[in-house]
Amino acid sequence: SIPILRTVAELRSIVAVWRREGLKVALVPTMGALHDGHLSLVRAALAKADRVIVTLFVNPKQFNSLADLQAYPRTEHDDAAKLASVGAHIVLYAPDALDMYPKSFATTVSVSGVSEGLCGAFRPGHFDGVATVVTKLFLQTGADLAFFGEKDFQQLHVVRQLVRDLDVPIEIVACPTVRESDGLAMSSRNVRLREAERQAAPRLAEILHEASEQLTDGDPVARVLAVARQTILAAGFERVEYLELRADEDLMPMAALDRPARLLAAIWLGQTRLIDNVSVRPR
Ligand code: PAJ
Repeated sequence: SIPILRTVAELRSIVAVWRREGLKVALVPTMGALHDGHLSLVRAALAKADRVIVTLFVNPKQFNSLADLQAYPRTEHDDAAKLASVGAHIVLYAPDALDMYPKSFATTVSVSGVSEGLCGAFRPGHFDGVATVVTKLFLQTGADLAFFGEKDFQQLHVVRQLVRDLDVPIEIVACPTVRESDGLAMSSRNVRLREAERQAAPRLAEILHEASEQLTDGDPVARVLAVARQTILAAGFERVEYLELRADEDLMPMAALDRPARLLAAIWLGQTRLIDNVSVRPR
């Protein structure tokens, strides 16, 4: 079993000991319901640091629907067991909501630019919530490195931006998206898919990969996106929130494939919103 810390004070006193020993500390922020995508971040952190703090906090400020917050899976016991099986030198920091946000809490970290559009356009306040909690976790842990998944590509950019802007002394490491064997990007929300939806879900990644190859082959961006959108709808997905080509480096919209890019999508399948993205290489 692994140590579970509940308060900032406990966390700080343990990190202080590590610091005195000259150990390198990594942070892996999560909302729990851990799957192999999360665990790949923990493994990458263990490879680069001496101690790893995995945080488990279902951050109320980043949910725009109370129903989504209440339905979010909570499996702390299993999460701790999974982390123990990954290796030694891991602690779990699982603070209380009232510890993170006492009634008097009044500060928001808001990143403009990269937070706008894509998920930011459909989830008002979401990236403010992410930026605020991530900033708190950086300051609470004082970690040297923090690991984030490319699965949430816009989130990764929001975090990189706030670290640059606020001179946070932490190195952000990006990790590739981990997928089920049929290609579906792992997500804590996948458990909500009904059986028929779970069967249909991997088509999203397939269609994104096909579109990525067509773009690399030089097909016009507008036509590839239009066909992909039709194919997604024909495959049984209810609604496409967005399907966009953005620059890999700075998330700027792209009309032509003149530098490395990402094809990003958010779609609805029944009651579940899925996001995914694939890289697109120019020839
Ligand atoms: P959560 O969705 O739990 O994800 C935690 C971390 O795991 C994020 O960096 C996310 O990108 C990464 N991740 C999720 N699924 C992945 C997959 N299939 N492959 C690789 N990495 C994956 O993202 C959040 O929590 C929150 O917004 C958080 C950053 C913790 C702030 O509350």
